[in-house]
Amino acid sequence: MSRIGIFFGTDTGRTRRLAKDLAKALGDAAESPVNINKVAPEDLLAFDALILGTPTLGEGALPGLDTGGSMESWLEFLPRAAGLDLSGKVVALFGLGDQDKYGEHFVSALRPIHDWAQACGATLVGRWPVDGYDFIESEAEEAGEFLGLAIDQHNQAHLTAPRLAEWLAQILPALLAAAGPVTVE
Ligand SMILES: Cc1cc2nc3c(=O)[nH]c(=O)nc-3n(C[C@H](O)[C@H](O)[C@H](O)COP(=O)(O)O)c2cc1C
Repeated sequence: MSRIGIFFGTDTGRTRRLAKDLAKALGDAAESPVNINKVAPEDLLAFDALILGTPTLGEGALPGLDTGGSMESWLEFLPRAAGLDLSGKVVALFGLGDQDKYGEHFVSALRPIHDWAQACGATLVGRWPVDGYDFIESEAEEAGEFLGLAIDQHNQAHLTAPRLAEWLAQILPALLAAAGPVTVE
């Protein structure tokens, strides 16, 4: 039995909080969330099911030192993790953004993480409908869906808890099938 691994990037802490909420909802099924800037790529291989979270910074960019972030993050991690073997692993993504102020790049940072995980052989789950959001463009949109759960704590904070619960219910069977049988609180 392995637990679900939760890794996140963050600049101002919102994505960390979301990751903690996710871990709490998953109870014993998940490990405590870890900042992606604290791990080596191989550390992800300890998990057969992964939830990866990121804010979008700059203009549709991954968080990191070159995109206005205060610390290393996904921007530095992904090149190091190129070619990691994620085959057989199930990966779900969540992204934080601001659809009002950054509506031309809403949660776009999901795209490079998605493309990296896919290129590494992972099975991606947890796409989320764009209905209910008001944005102009997103590199993370494909056929009416985001590549993962989109969260906007600036303009739709009241929708976060129900979105999280619905998304978890949607992805949990696939995550648990990969991670093995565990008890969810
Ligand atoms: C300088 C800056 C640039 C941003 N650019 C984007 C963007 O391109 N797209 C987007 O959806 N959100 C953008 N945001 C909003 C952040 O993604 C949002 O505030 C998020 O909740 C931050 O999460 P964190 O607290 O984990 O860093 C930007 C925020 C800042 C401060």
